[in-house]
Amino acid sequence: MIVLRPRRLRRNQVMRELVAEHRVGVEHLVQPLFVVERDEDAGPIESMPGISRYSLSAAVNEARELFALGIKSVLLFGIPASKDAVASSSYDKNGIVQRTIAAIKSALPEMLVMADLCACEYTDHGHCGLLDSEGEVDNDATLELLCRIALTYADAGADVIAPSDMMDGRVKAIRCALDAHGSTSVAIMAYSAKYASAFYGPFRDAAGSAPQQGDRRGYQMDAPNAREALREIALDIAEGADIVMVKPGLPYLDIVRAARDRFDVPIAVYNVSGEYAMLQAAISNGWLDGDRAIDETLTSFVRAGADIVITYFAKTYAQRHG
Ligand code: PBG
Repeated sequence: MIVLRPRRLRRNQVMRELVAEHRVGVEHLVQPLFVVERDEDAGPIESMPGISRYSLSAAVNEARELFALGIKSVLLFGIPASKDAVASSSYDKNGIVQRTIAAIKSALPEMLVMADLCACEYTDHGHCGLLDSEGEVDNDATLELLCRIALTYADAGADVIAPSDMMDGRVKAIRCALDAHGSTSVAIMAYSAKYASAFYGPFRDAAGSAPQQGDRRGYQMDAPNAREALREIALDIAEGADIVMVKPGLPYLDIVRAARDRFDVPIAVYNVSGEYAMLQAAISNGWLDGDRAIDETLTSFVRAGADIVITYFAKTYAQRHG
């Protein structure tokens, strides 16, 4: 009788690499970048050790470093100098994100520039859209705002527009607006299954985008729901999304897997700020081996079926593996 010994394939590094089923390639990683309009808002983010808010010129330098390391995609978030109820600074063609897109594309034409599209960093109330007279986020009025912002991002040279607001019908509205504008080659990466999550806490500190009243549960998804995520993804694909996203990552790996099994478009996962903060906190206390914990975390996304991993660890990963 033969004895089956799976351990034979684990005996040494070369053997393990030979039989490895998944690999995290730097070409699949996206580094988020926070860019500030006012230089005095630049600097380290307390709850995200190792991550900073950059001035425009520092963001371009950072993009250069990333590109040299093999991280050739960035996802931009803007921190404007002024906010108001209707997010006026979001669609200013000289706004911070618009200027950063143009500056990165001119310095590094091959860098893939993705722009997060949402109102929450630009509204004084901190919600992801326009409020109606009852203080509710007005879905259809917000669609017009999103399209208006999207066209300015396209004009600035964005390769990918990533709506993260969770309004119904926004992918179709943005696709139609882009096409009518002649921006047919700008891709849409939709935050399709975006959950109302505690894990965005550090991001909201970084971007100053926490809602002043209420929360986002009226438009972002509810944690217990998995089938609904697949419905959201199916709708976004039908509306013309080129890439769909699941967010956050670690607590929603089942959704990534289910989406991978069901759909044939590229799937992105967002390893969000709270997941980053949680690991960095344990690493800085010496409670986890950082390199191994980061590699294992990024591997989990790829194993779950993600093609694209948006992560604040992209740069450190590339420094070790690029
Ligand atoms: C904007 C947006 C958020 C994130 C990405 N785009 C914040 C939110 O929805 O509150 C979170 C990213 C992160 O936590 O790293 N709507």
